[in-house]
Amino acid sequence: MTEDDLDRNRRHFLAIATAVTGAAGVVAVAVPFLSSLKPSARAQALGAPVEVPIGSLQPGEMIRTLWRGKLIFVLRRTGVMLSHLQNHRDKLRDPDSEVVDQQPEYAVNETRSVRPEYLVVEGSCTHLGCAPLDQFEIRPADAWDGGFFCPCHGSKFDLAGRVSKGVPAPTNLRVPPYRFVRDDLILIGQDTGAA
Ligand code: FES
Repeated sequence: MTEDDLDRNRRHFLAIATAVTGAAGVVAVAVPFLSSLKPSARAQALGAPVEVPIGSLQPGEMIRTLWRGKLIFVLRRTGVMLSHLQNHRDKLRDPDSEVVDQQPEYAVNETRSVRPEYLVVEGSCTHLGCAPLDQFEIRPADAWDGGFFCPCHGSKFDLAGRVSKGVPAPTNLRVPPYRFVRDDLILIGQDTGAA
């Protein structure tokens, strides 16, 4: 073996040793962090379902919460909002929620929801993951029926989280698994497989 070979082997060994030490450091930091959380917070950090009380949510209002580190929107739609959902089907890329990965089967319907009044979607633009802004005001002059606007590259979604044609986002906002525990309580992250 030449001097060059020995040098190369030494560098290779050092690179592996550094990576292993770094990974061990991450685990060592993560374990105390998780064990410092209360049991419920720890379960949530690890992906447990999240309860969202909706008893005081008024029509037209939206709650933001986190599940598995993802932003989740829970919007209580008004009757007017719902009545505008069918106005712009021809401007939507996937009006009938045919991309199966973007919602559970029980959300493949006109409102993409278990109960028409409540929209539950991930607040993550399907282009590159920015958080879309709510633009719920209906503006007939701009042919805008209310929805979400992603300021990063201009993607638009309607009040069912359906993406417009001609924007960078390829698919509708994703609907997470969820179910109604009671009329005033939604559980995000767990369902019964049916509405
Ligand atoms: S991340 Fe939303 S449009 Fe690019």
